[in-house]
Amino acid sequence: MWRWREGVRGQHEPNPITIIALGLSPTGIAFVRGWAGKGWSRHIGVFAYTPLYVTTVRGTGKVLASTHQAWTPTDKESKYKYHHSRSIILPGLLDLFPSHTHLYILTNSVKMVPSIKLNSGAEMPQVGFGLWKVDGEIASDVVYNAIKAGYRLFDGACDYGNEAECGQGVARAIKEGIVKREELFIVSKLWNTFHDGDRVEPIVRKQLADWGVDYFDLYLIHFPVALEYVDPSVRYPPGWHFDGKSEIRPSKATIQETWTAMESLVEKGLAKSIGVSNFQAQLLYDLLRYAKIRPATLQIEHHPYLVQQNLLNLAKAEGIAVTAYSSFGPASFREFNMEHAQKLQPLLEDPTIKAIGEKYNKDPAQVLLRWATQRGLAIIPKSSREATMKSNLNSLDFDLSEEDLKTISGFDRGIRFNQPTNYFSAENLWIFG
Ligand SMILES: NC(=O)c1ccc[n+]([C@@H]2O[C@H](COP(=O)([O-])OP(=O)(O)OC[C@H]3O[C@@H](n4cnc5c(N)ncnc54)[C@H](OP(=O)(O)O)[C@@H]3O)[C@@H](O)[C@H]2O)c1
Repeated sequence: MWRWREGVRGQHEPNPITIIALGLSPTGIAFVRGWAGKGWSRHIGVFAYTPLYVTTVRGTGKVLASTHQAWTPTDKESKYKYHHSRSIILPGLLDLFPSHTHLYILTNSVKMVPSIKLNSGAEMPQVGFGLWKVDGEIASDVVYNAIKAGYRLFDGACDYGNEAECGQGVARAIKEGIVKREELFIVSKLWNTFHDGDRVEPIVRKQLADWGVDYFDLYLIHFPVALEYVDPSVRYPPGWHFDGKSEIRPSKATIQETWTAMESLVEKGLAKSIGVSNFQAQLLYDLLRYAKIRPATLQIEHHPYLVQQNLLNLAKAEGIAVTAYSSFGPASFREFNMEHAQKLQPLLEDPTIKAIGEKYNKDPAQVLLRWATQRGLAIIPKSSREATMKSNLNSLDFDLSEEDLKTISGFDRGIRFNQPTNYFSAENLWIFG
């Protein structure tokens, strides 16, 4: 299906090989209207009648498309026709355009990542890469490969214990000219033991140093629970237990105290946007009473077994973007031997999800991801395998029918995997109670 897609220069380029469309109008005024990267689109077009059409290939110098077929616009947004084309190689032309320039492509095979405009004004890629359980030994390569595959958003956290390694992957990609810092969207999270107001900034500075960057694009409160401070020299990441074994020791910090400290991160330029994760409606209502800076995003567990429609309604009404984590449901939790994750039908193997995928020639993972993005959510799937990281990223080039969306939402059973009580016997930590 032909359609116009909007992209943001710097955020949606999937790899160093970039084709850019340069249109010259009949009046001779030059303007730029489109770009696409390798694998994003077979056809690119411009808004105006273009007697001359130029493509550039950056990176390899290899011509990806030397001619373009004429196309006729098929939707009402497209006012002009493109009739003739020629291609020449102009390496590096894309760099002429400032980061964050909005550009448009007409395509029938889109693998382009749209962005979500946050209430902070920032543009957040709708598809990102999750870093939980990415082993430190491979994290640098995984991040580097994910950048090469086209990911620009990385979802990290102190608790994942791999921020320094992830930062090395970023540094390598930047050094090799694959991407610039401002083209990435790096997310990190405040761990529970750093909720006391005076602990927030020092730990953010440590996390930034680990990543090797001087600001986070988005910084989230990881869980709405404050635990007693554990110094990084004692144990890092500190985990849930004060003694590293079994003791849960709360701190006295309120969410208001923590949020006020989060707001100062924005004022100091350490985070461009701030948000929350694992918050439920009651606490959000409370936070919104005193927040001087409203949370830009809410990151929650979200999959067909946990649809959370009311929470999504609230976020939408309050202008808070929602990011879904663990989009494949039990897939991420089977390795913890959680009984319900083991017993439930894996969504990736579910016959209904598979059958829906077959209709669109998509795999079950792409169906689950598209279901989430069509509900307006951002997604952050994690995969250490290059082929799957690519197929997950490329899950936006089809639309599930209303009926299929409904069928998938009908799986809802209110089943949550990611809660402390599923990992250890938490005698005093029922945070989703
Ligand atoms: N805020 C929070 O509290 C919180 C909690 C959980 C997660 N998160 C974030 O959300 C991200 C994603 O969630 P998640 O890591 O729980 O799980 P996920 O992305 O839903 O699933 C990851 C699992 O699915 C496999 N997988 C990935 N793509 C696949 C595909 N196309 N086909 C088949 N299997 C596939 C992965 O294996 P391979 O690696 O072998 O491919 C891995 O075992 C995390 O990495 C983290 O950044 C946040």
